[in-house]
Amino acid sequence: TSSPGPSSTPATRPASASSTSWRTCSASPRAPAATSGSPAARYFPSKYRREIGRLNGELEGVVLESIRRSREIADEGRTTSTYGRGLLAMLLAEMEKKKEKGAGDDGKFSYDTRLVIDECKTFFFAGHETSALLLTWTLMLLATHPEWQDKARAEVSQVCGDDPPSADQLSKLTVLQMIIHETLRLYPPATLLPRMAFEDIRLGDLHLPRGLSVWIPVLAIHHDESIWGADAHEFHPERFAAGRRSSAGAGRFLPFAAGPRNCVGQAYALFEAKVVLAMLLANFRFTISDDYRHAPVNVLTLRPKYGVPVHLRPLRP
Ligand code: HEM
Repeated sequence: TSSPGPSSTPATRPASASSTSWRTCSASPRAPAATSGSPAARYFPSKYRREIGRLNGELEGVVLESIRRSREIADEGRTTSTYGRGLLAMLLAEMEKKKEKGAGDDGKFSYDTRLVIDECKTFFFAGHETSALLLTWTLMLLATHPEWQDKARAEVSQVCGDDPPSADQLSKLTVLQMIIHETLRLYPPATLLPRMAFEDIRLGDLHLPRGLSVWIPVLAIHHDESIWGADAHEFHPERFAAGRRSSAGAGRFLPFAAGPRNCVGQAYALFEAKVVLAMLLANFRFTISDDYRHAPVNVLTLRPKYGVPVHLRPLRP
């Protein structure tokens, strides 16, 4: 197998996909023409909306089934806590507590099954695809940059030996951390942060009127040469080395957003990515398949249009 070289054209150049290639590769999510017209259009039945309704029903059925199972476990007394363990159990226990009180602290807000279902949907959609994309792009970059793959593997072997990484060891995998950060810079799974001004705001010399929609272009910020230098489009994990962190300063590196509404799953996502990558590095050498076609598409999340086929070769017989 071969990896695309540095002289490839933007469309096939993995780490250095230029702004031109983002433009040529970006695609809009499939949107029905009707939604762009009158607001009432959303109430007209259509094949597209029926499909949304069906998928939503299916998803909520899965969540409801998990809630039912969680309650069953609690009823059978298989766990010491009321609903069992895990995030869903915590949400259900919280719901029960609020119900007993009659309402939330603000007196208006009551926790009910609908809210738990919506929380589960948020966690699933916010956490699943983003984490999968981080792993996918990291594997692509390691497979096309064998020198960094070797460095990361040497570190894993030195820190963890032949065992799976422990929680303490994960914080010592600094090369892997740099690689993950550089991947999140080049290929941020969430490319855009939409915000809305709920009141008139003065921001420096800018006036943001109430109701204004502000889109923070994470992908463009992460590829801005005035921030990251002339090599902004290239894979250079060393820019995240300790001591050089200034280049990842506030407002420049935003894979998990920033401020009070930043990603609640950030620590978990990084923890998970490190475990998976450390175990893959310890057991396999990976190379990119000849079938790989570099085509990141920006559809709110940044996805590889044709997937990332990678060859894994066991390191031990
Ligand atoms: C590499 C993986 C991940 C990335 C890149 C990522 C990125 C983000 C970003 C950019 C936001 C802010 C969205 C906005 O404000 O418009 C966000 C919010 C959120 N993320 Fe993540 N996320 C990741 C993994 C996870 C995981 C694993 C979970 C859950 C286990 C999670 C749960 C959430 C939730 C619940 C929010 C909404 C927080 C709020 O609105 O207060 N994320 N994430």
